[in-house]
Amino acid sequence: MKHIVVLISGNGSNLQAIIDACQQKKINGTISAVFSNKADAFGLERAREAGIPAHALAASEFASREAFDRQLMQEIDAWAPDVVVLAGYMRILSPAFVARYSGRLLNIHPSLLPKYPGLHTHRQVLENGDEEHGTSVHFVTDELDGGPVILQAKVPVFEGDDEDEITARVQHQEHAIYPLVVSWFIDGRLKMRHNAAWLDDVQLPPQGHAAE
Ligand code: GAR
Repeated sequence: MKHIVVLISGNGSNLQAIIDACQQKKINGTISAVFSNKADAFGLERAREAGIPAHALAASEFASREAFDRQLMQEIDAWAPDVVVLAGYMRILSPAFVARYSGRLLNIHPSLLPKYPGLHTHRQVLENGDEEHGTSVHFVTDELDGGPVILQAKVPVFEGDDEDEITARVQHQEHAIYPLVVSWFIDGRLKMRHNAAWLDDVQLPPQGHAAE
């Protein structure tokens, strides 16, 4: 059985989608543990509800980002994960953390990368009058939200949309594409090589797999 560790900071709806996909055997793996940098993250409750060990680490208890990440790495490594999945984990990673899990560290970011790295993507889409928005699953590298894209999902932006509406539209897509990408990785179909994503030994284009 392949082992997945998930990191969260908040609601954990993407975590829930991955829990559900594991339970439905759409992912041939099991979530060993969930970690959060916020003790009140609702995602921790989702994990416990599913019988998954769930722990929070408080940044305030560590002297530096490096010290926090060292402790987190130690706790993650106790589960010997095949893949580490960032699901709404809103903390910048130290280079040592990224290096440790390089090639098996996935993230989902709510924009059509390389557009809108960083925060407040939905707000920027509205402010700029974009007609199209979306979300990207990518391998994590040292560049913030800059690692190779694996899969994107697009959503339309309608006139009069507010931030909540487009957030919900984007998240609906996230819950479909993130479990799918995790399943590809678990099945050994997905790799990161030479700073590119490869699916079934085919190098994916910059916008990721061209889904129908
Ligand atoms: C998701 O929409 C994810 O794309 C975003 O946080 C949300 C978490 O929701 N991630 C980032 O912004 C990372 N830069 P969730 O806790 O309900 O899964």
